[in-house]
Amino acid sequence: MDSVAAQALLEWQIELGATEAIGDTPVNRYDAPAKLPKAKTPSADPDPAPVEAVDPVAVARGLAKAAQSLDELRDAMAAFQHCELRRGARNLVFADGEPSARVMIVGEAPGRDEDIEGRPFVGQAGQLLDRMFDAIGMDRTSPDPAKSIYITNILPWRPPQNRDPEPAEMAMMMPFVERHIALADPDILVLMGNISCQALLGRKGITRLRGSWTEAQGRPVLPMFHPAYLLRNPAAKRDAWHDLLTLQKRLRES
Ligand code: URA
Repeated sequence: MDSVAAQALLEWQIELGATEAIGDTPVNRYDAPAKLPKAKTPSADPDPAPVEAVDPVAVARGLAKAAQSLDELRDAMAAFQHCELRRGARNLVFADGEPSARVMIVGEAPGRDEDIEGRPFVGQAGQLLDRMFDAIGMDRTSPDPAKSIYITNILPWRPPQNRDPEPAEMAMMMPFVERHIALADPDILVLMGNISCQALLGRKGITRLRGSWTEAQGRPVLPMFHPAYLLRNPAAKRDAWHDLLTLQKRLRES
């Protein structure tokens, strides 16, 4: 194939909606069925072995409970095989920032940039998040627990096309999120957007929830607009600023 033909093929893929290359070699999907083992018909095996049903939430709970440190928790999540999202993701996105920070931020799930880098909130929304916290004198690189932040997500793997997490995916990852919070032991949780509110508060409706203190995992929680929402709705930044000041005030008082 010459370079003109190769470029034309590439442009065709882009027109079809491809946004990134996910492998170095092509996969011929027409070959796949031929390689699958033949399904057994019931009559072929009159005495099939019972199939043990695995409860992914119970498996996650066991793994999370056994983790005695953040490193062990990261390893436990890397070993967890029951979430299909891991197969489409490049990296497990565990956390970033200072684990001893007084404030722990919980977002939704990695996007494309986070998946590539293996760190949460490094894309456009993450840059806005950094600017927001910088405005109240806090950032993820400070070693001072009073000035730093610790950041994670409900899901550690990128959902395809950045779709919303499915309830089953959230349910099986929640034991890890809860253990993550317990091990990091922050004074305050900041929940970014609807998904983390749904997961940790069991409530949705960020427009009503934001800016009001509530409680989860035995600690104060402040729901806020997700920075990706703020990028799409700049007028809401005013509310976000109000919420940042609310957070700053609470940190100063306690
Ligand atoms: N949005 C999130 O909720 N988390 C990230 O890590 C990036 C974007």
